[in-house]
Formats: sequence, structure tokens, C-alpha cells
Amino acid sequence: MDYQTIIENIYNKVLPFVNEGKQADYIPALAKVNPNQVGVCLKTLDGKEYAIGQAEEKFSIQSISKVFSLAMAFALEKDILWQRMGKEPSGTSFNSLVQLELEKGIPRNPFINAGAIVVADVLLSHLQNPENEFIEFVRLISNSQNVNYNHLVAQSERGQSYLNAAITNLLKYHNNIKNDIEQVLQFYLLMCSVEMSCSELSQAFLCFADHTKEFNYKNVHLTASQVKRINAIMQTCGFYDESGEFSYLVGLPGKSGVGGGISAIYPQRYAVTVFSPRLNDKGNSVVGMKFLELLTTETKESIF
Ligand code: DON
Repeated sequence: MDYQTIIENIYNKVLPFVNEGKQADYIPALAKVNPNQVGVCLKTLDGKEYAIGQAEEKFSIQSISKVFSLAMAFALEKDILWQRMGKEPSGTSFNSLVQLELEKGIPRNPFINAGAIVVADVLLSHLQNPENEFIEFVRLISNSQNVNYNHLVAQSERGQSYLNAAITNLLKYHNNIKNDIEQVLQFYLLMCSVEMSCSELSQAFLCFADHTKEFNYKNVHLTASQVKRINAIMQTCGFYDESGEFSYLVGLPGKSGVGGGISAIYPQRYAVTVFSPRLNDKGNSVVGMKFLELLTTETKESIF
């Protein structure tokens, strides 16, 4: 498959859409990002790399970090993790409170904010130095020492985190947070603040692309079956109330973030990341969605 020619053609087709949508500005630091960027990087399991545009530009990975924190928490707690959250699509926005109240503090899945906040709590309970161990894990799987938190982004989000604070309080009320709520919220926001390029993200997602192999990265061990299950949750819950639409249009497991990134996996073949900051009203990158739809349509490669 000549992925370089394919991604170049699709890149030219999606460029006219770069002005559609609106970049996230509820995190003040993200409002300053140049919204007219498009980067793409596709890496195959057999070691090839195809890129175009701002593929090496670092951006705020935001909710894409929820895949990495879930991998660590799942490795630590195994199926016990599912006593504290579900694995069902929510059909609601990523920061919704409604379901959480009705369902008595058990988040629908680990990729909505409520679920990822419980995952942050799990990591705080198990790890000696959660901040260091999380970033070291992300550096290891992305094969890049040059991956860091952006403390300014995390702080700027904390200043506006009224909904996330409400979610954390509701979780604590239902006894689904074990640690101090401020500490949990800060750690959750810090994980969201990690900055990576499309190239680094695709490298990291490649570790999840082969669901027939065990995942062994220093002290994070997942069985092949657990890797398969993380992919399944990406497929059903990776795009909040647009998960069905992403599945319909693209047909790959993936995860988006309000920084404008989307990473997706074609199992046993490749991982791909698209970055473009303008978002649709569900919080997913407009160009990212379009690019991946064209990629699986033109290559005829998807899980369906
Ligand atoms: O908690 C938040 O609202 C952000 N730190 C992350 C949200 C996010 O990326 C949702 N993604 N589409």
C-alpha cells in the first residue's frame, strides 16, 4: 500500500476544511494555539513511517492521554477496575454530570471525564510517584524522551475547571474517589496537559495496534486479551457522543482530544494520528474526522 501518496492526496482534499469548526478555548492556554495547522503521521507495525504537514509539531494531547492512563490502571487493577466504572458508551458529552448522578457515581466508561478522573484516583492509590511514573510510561511507549507535561496548560485549565471539579465532588460523594479531591483533579489535568507530536502519538498507539501480542513496557504489563479490550473501548467510547458517527465514518478504534488530535489504530497494521485544532460541536477535530474517513475509504482498510 502506497500510504505516502494516499495521505498526500487526502491532505490536499481536507485542507479546504481547515477553517471549519472552532478550537477549544475553555482551556485558556489552548485558545492561543495556531488553529490553521494540519499534521498527519502514519506508522506501520513493520517499521515504516509516512507523514505530511505539521507531523512533528507538539500539541496538547488532552483526552488522548486517557488511553495511556487506562492502560496503566488496567494493568494494575485488572478486572477489579470495572467495579468502579463501566465500559458502555455514554451518548453524552465528555464532561456531562447528568448520567453520573443517575448512576450513583459510577462513570459509564474510562474515556469520559468522570471515568478518567476515577482512573487518575486509581493511579494515585497505586503508584509511589504518579507524576513521574505516568510520564515515564508515555516516554517509553512513544520512544521519545522529549515528551513532557505542560504545567501552564494544566494550571490554566484548573482555573476554569468548574465542571470537572463538580464531577470529582460527585464521585467523592459516592465514595468512588479514595484520595484527596484536589490532588485527583490536578493529576487528571496534568495527564491531559502532556504535549506530543503526531509522530510520537502514532509510535505510542502502535503498542496497542497488535492485539495478538502481550504489552510489556517496564512495569506495565497487559495480556493480549487486555490490549484487545482497550481497543474495544476506544471503538465504542473514544469519541463521546460521536463514537457511533466515528465508527460509521471511519471504522477504526481511536481516541480524540480537545487539543485537536485524533489517534487511531488499524489492528495488526498501523497507527495513525491527525492533528488540526478546530473542533466540531462534539469536541472532535473537523479535519481529523474527515481525513480518517477518507483514509479508510480510499484504502478500503478498516475493521469492518
Ligand atoms: O477535562 C477536560 O475537559 C480536558 N482536559 C480534556 C477533554 C477532552 O480532551 C475531550 N476530548 N475530546
